[in-house]
Amino acid sequence: MPTLNPESVVKERYAKASQEAEAALCCPVEYDPQYLTAIPAEVIDRDYGCGDPSKYLRCGETVLDLGSGTGKICFIAAQVVGPAGRVIGVDMTDDMLDVARRNAPLVAKNIGYANVEFRKGRIQDLALDLEKLDTELLENPISSADAFLAAESLAEKLRVTAPLVASDSIDVVVSNCVLNLVEPRAKHCLFQEIFRVLRKGGRAVISDIVADETIPDHLQNDPELWSGCVSGAFTESEFVSAFSEAGFYGVEILKFDTMPWRTIEGIEFRAMTIQAFKGKQGPCFERNQAVIYKGPFKEVLDDDGHRMERGRRYAVCDKTYNLYKKAPYAESFEAVEPLSDITLADAKPFDCTRTSLRHPRETKGLEYRDTTAASQCCDGGSC
Ligand SMILES: C[S@@+](CC[C@H](N)C(=O)[O-])C[C@H]1O[C@@H](n2cnc3c(N)ncnc32)[C@H](O)[C@@H]1O
Repeated sequence: MPTLNPESVVKERYAKASQEAEAALCCPVEYDPQYLTAIPAEVIDRDYGCGDPSKYLRCGETVLDLGSGTGKICFIAAQVVGPAGRVIGVDMTDDMLDVARRNAPLVAKNIGYANVEFRKGRIQDLALDLEKLDTELLENPISSADAFLAAESLAEKLRVTAPLVASDSIDVVVSNCVLNLVEPRAKHCLFQEIFRVLRKGGRAVISDIVADETIPDHLQNDPELWSGCVSGAFTESEFVSAFSEAGFYGVEILKFDTMPWRTIEGIEFRAMTIQAFKGKQGPCFERNQAVIYKGPFKEVLDDDGHRMERGRRYAVCDKTYNLYKKAPYAESFEAVEPLSDITLADAKPFDCTRTSLRHPRETKGLEYRDTTAASQCCDGGSC
């Protein structure tokens, strides 16, 4: 059984690493150089990331960076999303927040607008604003068991009345080399929190270190390896599954480093970037829509258990139909609209627990009997 208290060793190590660059924590990453010129050297030097989730962001998005450190990903993201977008960095280590906050006005001056802020919190508990809790506890210090219980109630009240990050408020949650640092018993909450704060249709883009084998207990109990982004790493498959278990869909590996960053006792540790979407939850309605999986695989299985063979028309509910028309599925599916529209108000419930084929007659209507001439494609148009 692991016996370490990971949170305290992580805080201690990153407090130090915020003051002076620590080479052992650095993993070579190529960031887009056009975004680096606006960022002060102390931020760039104390970069402990292992990937670059910022390259998957778009103009105007609201971004939350988990474990923002000295702020490098936030400051790059600020430029990618532009003045219409917003970036929030969350970190639990005061010294890291100090460096990031001290540099935020300098970056704002260099890029011409201020759209980044840093908040103190634990990423597995994104509702609790630790600075608000600090303020309250200064007035009512914990000196007895009763005071401890009162502080717990106060924390719960703060989560509800003044959450650090509100539910359904974020377009993209990013993180760079931090999820592995969260203690094992809190990892489940961490994924639930990522899901909670994202708006419907939002996505997570997370770079982290993963292991190719399960990490044995003696390595999990090593404080140096824990805070060094090794001991708490997910295995590749656990990392992918954690997203689907939390309710995400369209989970995809965007980048997988072929070369390991470190190898310990034969176990390889490498960086991987994953994207996952929120928004498959909700009622299912029948509007006679169909989808055709285009291949190249013989069949696919989606996150709701729909198994579809290549080239066949499947009946899907309105929700699934609309998901398949967007990233990350759009390239893989052909969407077939019914000939006459059934409005949502008239649509009946659809049973999404089974997968069934859609007969073309359902799409066209039983009365459809049209006969047409061949479309004209020999005079320069396309068939
Ligand atoms: C490896 S560094 C990565 C920093 C930054 N993302 C980067 O790319 O340079 C890990 C950071 O995550 C923070 N951190 C670790 N565990 C955390 C947790 N449970 N909640 C909030 N911050 C955490 C640490 O304080 C540290 O700043």
